[in-house]
This record gives sequence, C-alpha cells and structure tokens, in this order.
Amino acid sequence: MTALLPAGEVARAAELLRAGELVAFPTETVYGLGADARDGRAVAAIYAAKGRPSFNPLISHFPDAEAAFAEVEPDDRARALAARFWPGPLTLVLPRRAESRIDHLTGAGLDTLAVRVPGHPLALALLRAAGVPLAAPSANRSGGVSPTTAEHVLAGLSGRIAAVLDGGPCEVGVESTVLDLSSPAPLLLRPGGVTVAALEEVVGPVARPVGTEPGTLRSPGMMLSHYAPGLPLRLEAREVAADEALLAFGRPLDGAGAVWNLSEAGNPAEAAARLFAGLRWLDAEGARLGLRGIAAMPVPAEGLGDAVNDRLRRAAAPR
Ligand code: TXA
Ligand code: MG
Repeated sequence: MTALLPAGEVARAAELLRAGELVAFPTETVYGLGADARDGRAVAAIYAAKGRPSFNPLISHFPDAEAAFAEVEPDDRARALAARFWPGPLTLVLPRRAESRIDHLTGAGLDTLAVRVPGHPLALALLRAAGVPLAAPSANRSGGVSPTTAEHVLAGLSGRIAAVLDGGPCEVGVESTVLDLSSPAPLLLRPGGVTVAALEEVVGPVARPVGTEPGTLRSPGMMLSHYAPGLPLRLEAREVAADEALLAFGRPLDGAGAVWNLSEAGNPAEAAARLFAGLRWLDAEGARLGLRGIAAMPVPAEGLGDAVNDRLRRAAAPR
C-alpha cells in the first residue's frame, strides 16, 4: 500500500526516507520520486520502481546551494547561476568531489553529478527534515508522462512506493532545465523551467547539443521517445478530424472529438503548467471515446514554449 500523506505530514515522509523507503514529493516542476541519495539500496529501488535503466543518472536535491556544492565542484559560473536561480527549476551538472558521499548508483557511475535546489516550500521542508540529499527522478514509470499531481503519481506507482506527499498541482509543470557545466562551454542538456535566455544573461552563450537526438550522448536520459501517452501524438496540427483528440493552444481548431486547451490566452508558461495533465486527460478521454490519436497545435518557442516543444517532440517520437 502506498500512503497518501497530506502536506502536514512532512516529518513522517522524512522518517520514511531516512529508513531507506521511497517517497514521492512535490517540487515546483513535477513530482519527484525521492530516496536517500547516499543509500545505494534505496536508489536501486528507485530504478526498479520506475523501470528505469540504471545507466540513466538521477538528480540529487539539496535544501541549499552550500549543501549541493559540498558534493560537486562549482566554478564561478555555477555560483552565479545558483545565486540567481536557486531555489528554482535549474539543474547543474558539475564534477563530482572525490569525497562526495552520494552513492555512485545515483550518478550512474559518471564522474559528474546533477544537483538542484528545488523551489517548492514542501520540497525544501522535506529536504531539511530528512537531513539527507534526495535522489529524485520524475515520479512516473520510465518513458511515461511526468506527474504534476499526487493522483498522477499514484496512477503510475501505487503499490511500488511507500508514500506520496501531497502538495497539490505543480506550478511550473515541466522539469528543470539541465545545464552541463563540466566542460568549458555551458551545454543545454534539457530545456526546462528556466529559459535559455535567462541563463545567457548570467553565463553568456549556451550551446545546444548537436545531432538528431538532443543530448543523447551527454545526458543518457534524453532518449528521443519519452513522455509517451498511450495514443499516438502528431505535431503542428493545422486541422483535426472528428476521431482525434486535440491538444489546443490559443483558439482551438474546429471538429475534434475531445479538446484540452493548453492556454486559451496563448501563454507558453500556462501551457507548460497544463501540458502533462492535458496529455493524461486526452489519453484517457480518447480511449474512452475510441479516438485514434492526439493532434497537437503548434506552440511558439518563446519562453517556456521551448521546453513544451521539447516534451511534445519526445511524446510524438517513434516508440
Ligand atoms: O524538475 C526536475 O528536474 C525533476 C524534479 C523531480 O526535480 N526531476 C527530473 O529527473 O526530471 P529525471 O530523472 O526525470 O531527469 C533527470 C535528467 C535525465 O535526463 C538525466 O539523464 C539527466 O538529468 N542527468 C542526471 N545526471 C546527469 C549527469 N551526471 N550528466 C548528464 N545528465 C544527467
Ligand atoms: Mg523524467
């Protein structure tokens, strides 16, 4: 049985984590599936519960930058980014310190570690109460749609984890931006809650990985097919059929069998916050009505639109 813990039960959630159990918790981006990052057995249980390949490293979460930088070696760029964006939806990949006590399974054996200080009061309270760094991937089965509510977590992981701490819906709705600072040029491994434009104000030009599968080599988790709903998804829809579900943006196309509007006002940040819930809802509604697929209207690449388009491309990729 997986316990659904109300927000007031942070102490109980922390106690479970210290005992080596898995506890899902809210962050500002998506729900994370937490375990003590120093405990190899607990971290192994994350990979097992998600069905995630163990070559795909996890992000370690900390209550503040000082705790994060005790495990990795920050340079001036990392310090400036942390000062500007933490707590918040930015993950930094940095060289692991020789004395780091993060289990090697958390970092999938790499000589770098991904670290982040989440910008959600409940996540920070949990990290402080647990007193250990938390390894936390998104709290969904590997390859599926990320969870932005406690109900989404239970839909995928009920019975596989000890508890989920309920903090209501996540505000940002797409995962953190992952920036690799382990080499001379900052490299964007995953667009996310902090825009590239905002990063560039602090560290100058940010490179994007080359190749058809963004980040594949540097970030083992950025496989092309990911965030996959059950129904096939097609992008850049300019028209829609009656036997299709529509993921709309702005004024919806006419004629769909079911509609979820990411943002009637055409706001990319609102679209990000409503993206994963929309994919889940259209998937269920489409199955119920016997629809053949989901058509997604174009979303402009401005602001969080960049991260939204990245997730949509992966959701639409061949499985
Ligand atoms: O918003 C988020 O980042 C959420 C919340 C829970 O914090 N977490 C999350 O974790 O999205 P996950 O495991 O679903 O995605 C982590 C990404 C993966 O693409 C992984 O490959 C990459 O970060 N990553 C982790 N450690 C890395 C490393 N040392 N080098 C390169 N990429 C790394
Ligand atoms: Mg994920």
